[in-house]
Amino acid sequence: KVYSRVLGTGSYLPPGRVTNQQLTDRLAERGVETSDEWIVARTGIRARHFAEPDVATSDLALIASQRAIEAAGIDPQSIDLIVVATSTPDFVFPSTACLLQDKLGIKNNGAAFDIQAVCSGFAYAVATVDSLIRSGQHRTALVVGAETFSRILDFNDRTTCVLFGDGAGAIILSASEEPGVLASALHADGSHAGILCTPGHVNGGVVAGSAFLHMDGQAVFKLAVNVLEKVAIEALTKADLSPEQVDWLIPHQANIRIMSSTCRKLGLPQERMVVTVDEHGNTSAASIPLALDLAVRDGRIKRGQNVLLEGVGGGFTWGASVIRY
Ligand code: ACO
Repeated sequence: KVYSRVLGTGSYLPPGRVTNQQLTDRLAERGVETSDEWIVARTGIRARHFAEPDVATSDLALIASQRAIEAAGIDPQSIDLIVVATSTPDFVFPSTACLLQDKLGIKNNGAAFDIQAVCSGFAYAVATVDSLIRSGQHRTALVVGAETFSRILDFNDRTTCVLFGDGAGAIILSASEEPGVLASALHADGSHAGILCTPGHVNGGVVAGSAFLHMDGQAVFKLAVNVLEKVAIEALTKADLSPEQVDWLIPHQANIRIMSSTCRKLGLPQERMVVTVDEHGNTSAASIPLALDLAVRDGRIKRGQNVLLEGVGGGFTWGASVIRY
């Protein structure tokens, strides 16, 4: 029997770290009022990283991928599948995954494509790649979550611009006889498309509609806490595990209040949840692999432990995967 197993992880944050106070000062210059106290109390965010204007999502993805490849100890030419979860691709097309394949110098004509499920993107990517490996179609995959959300933030809208940051995380998933990804569950409900969207599109050489992120924060909050518990239980049940058997919960890092509520509902102590939202903000599809890499590298996550990943985001989409690390 073939499973897909994590061989290595990597991540990258652009060096431009912006604290709440720095952001507050910048916003004040344009007459937008916020404060460190408000941001910390409502979200748990203290800082985020913003990429320089000439740095694209594929540039962040490249460094995270190189680190994951090095950690896995594999030859990049053996990667026969690249999947990038992103909602801030370099271009309309070709996909960021194809651009990344070229930047990595991979010349083996393996498959490469993007997945667009906003903040659930990494959960969608893991589930998709796991299926492609289990079916025998691919053997060694680079799975990336990478975003430059700073590009779609309206810095005149204080209800959204304080929440997001840029970054990338990557894992190598490889065919193995040992169990790795144990189970996944994915869902969507397109009837909620309007509560979290960047509705602009290219038409006649210009962007028609808004190219900025729009969000009804309270509506997202209510849906998120409801579906995250359900999808976690669904994935755990498929994996034949109970919540107590989860060693580490890695939720999408959107808001500490949503994350803590899910952790509590699952009956897990807060210490078993990996938290990066304080330092990274919400990096959308990159948040889960960024947190995973951090906890692997600092020694918290060890081989053989059960890790529950779960995400929720625009679409509306949500999903979870249980991984034996
Ligand atoms: N600074 C100061 N005041 C602010 C700010 C700000 N940055 N933003 C909003 N406010 C004000 C509002 O104007 C409002 O003022 P009023 O009472 O005078 O009208 C007050 O703060 C409260 O606003 P609410 O929207 O009720 O605040 P809430 O407690 O709901 O927190 C938040 C807002 C943080 C957005 C919360 O709703 C949330 O986290 N929602 C979920 C968001 C989320 O998870 N999104 C990501 C999903 S992932 C993806 O796919 C991208």
